[in-house]
Amino acid sequence: MMIRLRRLRKNEKIREMLNESRIHLSNFVYPLFVVEGNNIKNQIKSMPDVYQMSIDNILKECDNLQNLGISHIILFGIPDIKDSIGSSALSHDSIVAKAVHAIKERFSDMIISVDLCFCEYTDHGHCGILDSNNDVDNDKTLEILAKQAVILASSGADIIAPSAMMDGQIKAIRNALDSNNLTNTLIMSYSTKFASAFYGPFRDVADSTPSFGSRNTYQQNPANRSEAIRESLLDESEGADILMVKPALSYLDIVRDIRENSRLPLAVYNVSGEYAMLKAAKMAKLIDYERALLEMMISFKRAGANIIISYHAKEIANLI
Ligand code: PBG
Repeated sequence: MMIRLRRLRKNEKIREMLNESRIHLSNFVYPLFVVEGNNIKNQIKSMPDVYQMSIDNILKECDNLQNLGISHIILFGIPDIKDSIGSSALSHDSIVAKAVHAIKERFSDMIISVDLCFCEYTDHGHCGILDSNNDVDNDKTLEILAKQAVILASSGADIIAPSAMMDGQIKAIRNALDSNNLTNTLIMSYSTKFASAFYGPFRDVADSTPSFGSRNTYQQNPANRSEAIRESLLDESEGADILMVKPALSYLDIVRDIRENSRLPLAVYNVSGEYAMLKAAKMAKLIDYERALLEMMISFKRAGANIIISYHAKEIANLI
């Protein structure tokens, strides 16, 4: 007797019955970039179809997203004014706080995650307050992260997504939220975040390229697997509700490792460089774009992710 696997694949209905991974729109989170002003919609050269938008246009986009069936967004703010400590993120009328208010007022069902970091708000482009050696001061940065988290959660954000990679940030943020009666606000930690070239196009959109040095002293070394798992497990122990691996494509082994070491829900961030590469291949007519796109999304689910943060979410809505 020969074991015949091909008989499992002959009939389309049987193939469908045996399908092990599926993508559904409810798994997707769509990133939006908010700027000050009115009627602004700036196209970004390195990311086709991704825009910086003022709040009025963000609201139009939310309407559009709801019609497509997408009900979860993640917001990034690009302020007008930057300084050494990112003060503009620490006010109740910060650009993101205003956007959250406006969206919740019009679209109360929309789930809003907010990226919690300082790289868009500091004039040096690093993710927190610098010490005298121009390294990010971990513990001072914890204080302003906690403050920003409380502001955004009280504006109505459902999920705080800290991406600054400071040690102890989940615990500091959870404590601050809890002591301000914000016990229902979720924390989706960018728990395993590599120092990656794939963030390049994002830094154009978010205007957050460091003016000197790199983020290698706080983001993780792409060569380190054990450390990557440790980072996520530590955030779980500090009280994260959802873990994340970022970037996605080159790190699916890490997604699987974390899936097998934690029972928390797990997100992947299909980042800007991954998006830009696939778009470039499409424009150069080098690939069957739609098939490649769906194959990538399935690979995230198969690796063990529950949630996919992706600039492709609107295209997915039209494909599935
Ligand atoms: C930090 C942040 C970054 C991204 C998400 N949050 C940039 C960075 O760490 O340099 C990158 C996302 C992407 O590349 O799409 N605020």
